[in-house]
Amino acid sequence: MSSNLLEVKDLVIKVHDNNDIIVKDINFEVEKSKVLGIIGESGSGKTMICKSIMGLLDTKKFNIEGDIRYKHNNIIDLNERNMEKIRGQDISLIMQNPMTAFDPMTKIGTQIIESLRAHYSISRKEAYQKGISVLKKMNLGREEKIMNSYSNTLSGGMLQRIMIAIAIMLKSKIIIADEITTALDASNKYMIIEELKKLRNSGITIVIITHDFGVLSSIADNIIVLNKGEIVESGSAKDIFYNPKEKYTQELLYASKLNGEYNGQSQKYFQTV
Ligand SMILES: Nc1ncnc2c1ncn2[C@@H]1O[C@H](COP(=O)(O)OP(=O)(O)OP(=O)(O)O)[C@@H](O)[C@H]1O
Ligand SMILES: [Mg+2]
Repeated sequence: MSSNLLEVKDLVIKVHDNNDIIVKDINFEVEKSKVLGIIGESGSGKTMICKSIMGLLDTKKFNIEGDIRYKHNNIIDLNERNMEKIRGQDISLIMQNPMTAFDPMTKIGTQIIESLRAHYSISRKEAYQKGISVLKKMNLGREEKIMNSYSNTLSGGMLQRIMIAIAIMLKSKIIIADEITTALDASNKYMIIEELKKLRNSGITIVIITHDFGVLSSIADNIIVLNKGEIVESGSAKDIFYNPKEKYTQELLYASKLNGEYNGQSQKYFQTV
């Protein structure tokens, strides 16, 4: 049996109005308990691919073709009701713009309690306690205060960590992290990557979306390189880092080294893990 949890086959996303192609011929697999990195420059279609996997693209605006296979279903064919069952409990998206993921009028604690109770039959009190204990794991500090806050009083990085906490609480099988380290400073970036490693070690499958090879160098098992809506190269992280075949990948690696994101020392990772 295949160990793939999610398979994307011949995915094409077009804009309805003008038939503009946003991504095309996208093929990849997400293996259970592995980390897949999707890397590409701004505008290459990374977020659109994430949203199509979550069933979050407006089908009036976008035409989506192909197969996004999860548990014998093609996600593209699922109605909103069935998709809601998959979101959170099976696949969670940690969004690039976390503000939009929270209701600004409802306290964070209430949103955590409600999302837990939507999937599990537990009391509000139990859900609150669970929320506190998982927030503790995210090293945010002052968990009670966070539960009592509104999203507009917290930073993007904090909201992303709260989204990861919710994904852990809901026991998501796959966590898709869309550029979650982009706005962070070096030490917070390191902390969140360590957190993702712990999740991977606990059996959760992770997809990391980034434009930063440094983020992938210590954690990715496989990497897909995206350019202008198409995959230019894909393979094991080892191959992409040490034997990139395509000029575009080589240039992207070089650029990551130049701007200090990737120090070219991922050998260490491959020798020790
Ligand atoms: N609502 C929309 N209507 C039409 N085109 C869109 C829409 N949203 C995004 N696009 C186009 O889709 C392409 C891919 O966008 P996407 O947001 O997936 O890029 P990205 O790789 O996530 O970039 P970034 O690194 O900046 O987040 C872009 O060229 C963008 O112009
Ligand atoms: Mg994006």
